[in-house]
Amino acid sequence: MTDILVSRKLGREYRWRGGSNRALVDVDLRVPKGVVLGLLGRNGAGKTTFVRISSTSLMPTAGTLEVFGHDVVRDPDPVRARIAVIPQESRPFYWLTPTELVSYYLRMRGSARAEAERTALRTLEELELSHWKNTQVNRLSGGLRRRVMVAMVMASDAEFLFLDEPTTGLDPLARRSVWSAIRKAAHEDRTILLTTHYLDEAEALSDQLAILESGRLLAHGSPADIAARVKYPYRVTLEDGFAPPDLEEMGQVTRVGNKTLLFTDEPRANELARQALEKGRRISMGPVSLEDLFVQIVGKEISQDDEEAVSAA
Ligand SMILES: Nc1ncnc2c1ncn2[C@@H]1O[C@H](COP(=O)(O)OP(=O)(O)OP(=O)(O)O)[C@@H](O)[C@H]1O
Ligand SMILES: [Mg+2]
Repeated sequence: MTDILVSRKLGREYRWRGGSNRALVDVDLRVPKGVVLGLLGRNGAGKTTFVRISSTSLMPTAGTLEVFGHDVVRDPDPVRARIAVIPQESRPFYWLTPTELVSYYLRMRGSARAEAERTALRTLEELELSHWKNTQVNRLSGGLRRRVMVAMVMASDAEFLFLDEPTTGLDPLARRSVWSAIRKAAHEDRTILLTTHYLDEAEALSDQLAILESGRLLAHGSPADIAARVKYPYRVTLEDGFAPPDLEEMGQVTRVGNKTLLFTDEPRANELARQALEKGRRISMGPVSLEDLFVQIVGKEISQDDEEAVSAA
């Protein structure tokens, strides 16, 4: 599979008078053609910095990054022609209507007028925006404006889409219409780099996940690869009153209401299921959610940092 994005030891340090901040440190990441990559991480982890460098709007301070084989610093123009971006903080021009915005965007990218209008109307319909297609953008709510931005990039013929929190602030139904637009783009074999704090969204859409923390890439791979890396990939829920004496040693135990939750490994989960069957008790078990994986991976990193800070002190 061709890699459409390759970063090598990528670094970005923000400097200002009297201070600096390392937003990315030695990031080695490859994104194959045609995948949806969910880029995850806490606030300040470096996601937007990575997106801005990849989409040629910010310079790295170390390492290199290539998109379609072109270095984004030395040769940004051929990259720009083939990508489309929704920046994290972005608002469409407010004096235009959604139809105008999307079709002007397409014409700027080289489409003929009639074709641009047709594509604009079709894309607005796909994103369930037809009702507002002729309303000036400044009369639309924040979530509707965000969806107009999504329509702009989806309508384009860009092969690589960068979506930095495209669904933040959207209602649950609107989020789903953006999800289907993302799925459709993926079916068209476009490559998508998506950042989101909604882990259900990342789980529903991503072929691959990458997790950043404090500017470092902690994990990258398919959701199954990532699940295989954690100590406790299973979640077991035990009904009240059923708790083997050695439960605490089997993994990480949490009480939720009158239920006990255990994060554990597969052999222990199976052993518990056997015991429950013997005693006529009910348990439910399954692989942990992406949310649980995220907490285990990033949580471990943070507590290590704390330990290092303590030992350094
Ligand atoms: N222009 C800037 N000047 C100085 N520091 C910056 C600047 N932009 C970002 N940073 C810092 O770089 C780090 C990474 O920021 P970035 O915006 O890439 O994070 P993020 O993962 O996108 O976070 P969020 O989830 O909040 O959007 C943070 O510590 C942030 O404070
Ligand atoms: Mg961000």
